[in-house]
Amino acid sequence: MSDDSRPSPAEPPLEASTAAPAQASVQAPVAAAAEPLVNARPKARTAAVIPAAGRGVRLGPGAPKALRALNGTPMLIHALRALAASRAVSLVVVVAPPDGAGEVKSLLDAHALPERTDFLVVPGGESRQESVKLGLDALPADYDIVLVHDAARPLVPVDTVDAVIEAVRDGARAVVPALPLADTVKEVEPATTAGEPEPVVATPARARLRAVQTPQGFDRATLIHAHETVTDNVTDDASMVEQLGETVVVVPGHEEAFKVTRPLDLVLAEAVLARRRLNDGF
Ligand code: C5P
Repeated sequence: MSDDSRPSPAEPPLEASTAAPAQASVQAPVAAAAEPLVNARPKARTAAVIPAAGRGVRLGPGAPKALRALNGTPMLIHALRALAASRAVSLVVVVAPPDGAGEVKSLLDAHALPERTDFLVVPGGESRQESVKLGLDALPADYDIVLVHDAARPLVPVDTVDAVIEAVRDGARAVVPALPLADTVKEVEPATTAGEPEPVVATPARARLRAVQTPQGFDRATLIHAHETVTDNVTDDASMVEQLGETVVVVPGHEEAFKVTRPLDLVLAEAVLARRRLNDGF
């Protein structure tokens, strides 16, 4: 792995050899014919950006989070397959750790991925925001809808992906899948010393709160404008669009789209995969 893999204007991003060569004239009619999504932007093409450049320190020591295995297959590969399962998604841009684009490209080459989807690998940045921006920079011009999906949500069902795309096609500029909360949430005054009791400041009404997942879906121009304008540190892309004063809408998320963050999440993810295998078998 070296910075040699970093793309420059003169050097296009790495293209995984597993990907079918860019064949827009062949792929577009296939995707369009298979899409039942009738809406305001029927011809819009959809690409996905997967930021996978995080270290994942909360999972404990080891490989970057996206490269850790779930049932023997790296989380990133699960996430790629989950997005490529949508017939509307014809390109996935993977944002690799800054010094790991070559390794991620080899990983994609070593795993079976759907042939009707193109895959690109680009090196990421220091923050999630920067990584997403680098992924957006690599998108060809003919994509109007962009999904941003965390590699750390490897098990998102295709119905959730399609619901997000459909809402953007129906005219929303920004769409997030989300679930109601089981826990009551408190706002606190964060302790200055770790472990000190923290005073509660407020208790927002739980019925109005949602836990937001990915993929988040965007009108491409709106997302690019948000990334060019908003410099605050944010934890998701939709909040950047909110800061522009644009409306962000919520569609139903799915419990299997949870983020693998802590060691227990790995156990849960493997249990979900085992249940899927069992259901597929009968
Ligand atoms: O840290 P967090 O769990 O919020 O990361 C969400 C996603 O952003 C992960 O898929 C992670 O790999 C990605 N990320 C990134 N570049 C960074 C930091 C995080 O692509 N510098």
